[in-house]
Order: sequence, then C-alpha cells, then structure tokens
Amino acid sequence: MLIFSAVSAGYGGVPVLKDISFSVADGEAVAIFGHNGAGKTTLMRCAVGDVAEMTGTVSYRGDAIVPGAVFRNTRRGIGFVPQGHNVFRELSVRQNLTISGLHHPESKVEDIYKLFPILLERGGQAAGSLSGGQQQILALGMALMTKPTILLLDEPSTGLAPIIVRDVMASLTKINRETGTTVVIVEQNIPATLAIVSRAIVVKSGRVVFDGPSKELERKEDLWGLF
Ligand SMILES: Nc1ncnc2c1ncn2[C@@H]1O[C@H](COP(=O)(O)OP(=O)(O)OP(=O)(O)O)[C@@H](O)[C@H]1O
Ligand SMILES: [Mg+2]
Repeated sequence: MLIFSAVSAGYGGVPVLKDISFSVADGEAVAIFGHNGAGKTTLMRCAVGDVAEMTGTVSYRGDAIVPGAVFRNTRRGIGFVPQGHNVFRELSVRQNLTISGLHHPESKVEDIYKLFPILLERGGQAAGSLSGGQQQILALGMALMTKPTILLLDEPSTGLAPIIVRDVMASLTKINRETGTTVVIVEQNIPATLAIVSRAIVVKSGRVVFDGPSKELERKEDLWGLF
C-alpha cells in the first residue's frame, strides 16, 4: 500500500501541496487528475522522495519514503515514469533498456519488445532520435525493466497519437491485471484514463477535492471544469 498522510510540500517556501492524504492498495489502478499547476507532478515526486520541502509522511509497503533518497526509495519496487522524455539520448533503445534493468538480472529486454514492438523495430536507434511518442514508450519500457510493484506515470500519453495512446493504456491494463502491478497515473486524457482505472483522485490547488470510484466522477459534472 502507498500511503500519503497529511503531506504538504512546496518550493522555496511557496506551498504547493496542502494536507494531502490518500492511500492506494496493492494491485489498484488509480488516476490523478487536476488543472495545470495543481500539484500533480509534485505529488508524484513526493512519492519517490524527490521534493525536499515536504512535511507529513509518505510510506510504501510499510516503509517511510525518505525525502532526498530517491534511489533508495525507488529500489523498493517503485517505477517512476516522469513527465517529459527521460531517456539517455545518445544511447540506443536497447542500451537504454539494458541499463535500466542492471539491478534486475531477471528483466529481459525481449519481454519489453513483446509488449512494445516499436522498440524492437528501433532497437539500434539512438534514443534521442526517436519521435516524442516513441521516447515516451521507451521511458515506460525502462521503468518496467526495474520490475516495479507499483508504477507511477506522469502524463504518459502526452504527445502520443490516439492509436498509440490506446496501445499504451491497453499495456498498462495488461501489466496491472496480469502482474498485479499497482498503477498510479497522472493524465490530461480523461476518457482514455477513466477506461483503465477504477478510482480517481482530483487535485485542485494542492488539495484533494475528490477521491472515489471513476464511475462516480463521471456523474460529478461540476468537477470536470477542474481538469
Ligand atoms: N522545481 C520547482 N521550483 C519552483 N516551483 C515549482 C517547481 N516545480 C513545480 N513548481 C510549481 O509548483 C506548482 C505545481 O507544479 P506541478 O508541476 O506539481 O503541477 P502539475 O499539476 O503537475 O501541472 P501540469 O499539469 O502542468 O504538469 C506550480 O505552480 C509550479 O510552478
Ligand atoms: Mg505535471
């Protein structure tokens, strides 16, 4: 279980997250929605200990997430796909995947190729020369190479063509259902995301204003203007 308990966080003394509490059970698929600047990325970064100015506690599977110790925190099975394209641009697709799996000898690049055939097709190409969408898929593949028990994804569909968005969302569902990997996904693409999660959290100006079944959110039209 991932637990946020009374978490507040900010930058340079400016508050961004204000008293955030929620938890995500193992195996769940949860979406986080909110307007630009609401604090979604900050929330994701708190989950891996990447925000120094944080009060309250975050824990994963019973252990506290220590602010500043990102590497140690993520070694506990947290796969983080940050917003934007985080790949080693000069290295090939295959090298990017291999490096990501260095601490996980059981990870096979071929398994990622099966999931995303485009990465096999581009295996020898420098990651920096992939299209934006392909880099996004590579970043997801790299996170999967770390054999995560929970996947945190910050706007994975940005810049992807609708058909690729469908592929990525379908892959996430497959990963969630077949391996029991917990999925927490920040997205702007609400319809595509609601189709793959059972629960949604809406953040407004750093506070949780909705946390409930996605079906319920579909009925709460007053919240839609927020994202
Ligand atoms: N490193 C930083 N230094 C200073 N301010 C920051 C930093 N990162 C984010 N902020 C500010 O914190 C607020 C929340 O940003 P955050 O990136 O968490 O929002 P978001 O909900 O992810 O937005 P978006 O949908 O645009 O990605 C914004 O006002 C932003 O300008
Ligand atoms: Mg963001």
